[in-house]
Amino acid sequence: MPATNIEIDIPTPADGEHLLRLARGISLFEASDIETIQELWTEFASKGDESSWYHFIVSRLDGVILGFACYGQRPLTEGAYDLYWIGVGQNQQSRGIGKMLIGEVEKRVCSQGGRLLIAETAGKEAFEPTRRFYLSAGYLLEARIRDFYKLGDDLVIFTKRFS
Ligand SMILES: CC(C)(COP(=O)(O)OP(=O)(O)OC[C@H]1O[C@@H](n2cnc3c(N)ncnc32)[C@H](O)[C@@H]1OP(=O)(O)O)[C@@H](O)C(=O)NCCC(=O)NCCS
Repeated sequence: MPATNIEIDIPTPADGEHLLRLARGISLFEASDIETIQELWTEFASKGDESSWYHFIVSRLDGVILGFACYGQRPLTEGAYDLYWIGVGQNQQSRGIGKMLIGEVEKRVCSQGGRLLIAETAGKEAFEPTRRFYLSAGYLLEARIRDFYKLGDDLVIFTKRFS
């Protein structure tokens, strides 16, 4: 797939159904993850990118959404941002789309004055590829809270600093 044909933009409310269908098809996401993504999407779609606390971007090929990311400023901080979600369609993974999306989030965070981007993920084995993804994108494994999600399932916190 030639990466040059992939475009990244801010989705419109009309993209919601497709975006959520794509998220539901990602095997690592559980029902509760989808519910949360849906909540953030609803806030974003109703308030719009300017006013919403949560910001979504999507990557598309010929108009079809291949992946999405959701980020926003961490409340009560100056310049710290959270990467709330990033997901690439189950059949489109490991083709560089996630890297393009996270790069675009970083660009947007920097242009909004962000200095720190935080990506939280799970420590369980199924998320090993996800952790490798963050490391390969230049993130630092900054912290781990043992047994955070449940016994035996840690919270792993990756960070990237821009200043
Ligand atoms: C994590 C995710 C967003 C990465 O997007 P992607 O398009 O699959 O990843 P890319 O193809 O851009 O890979 C970028 C790097 O990550 C590494 N990577 C990605 N998927 C990998 C996998 N399954 N196994 C090993 N390494 C992997 C690659 O080595 C690549 O490094 P390189 O550029 O140095 O070769 C995507 O795989 C995904 O949606 N996973 C399921 C949901 C998830 O875990 N979301 C994050 C938590 S919210």
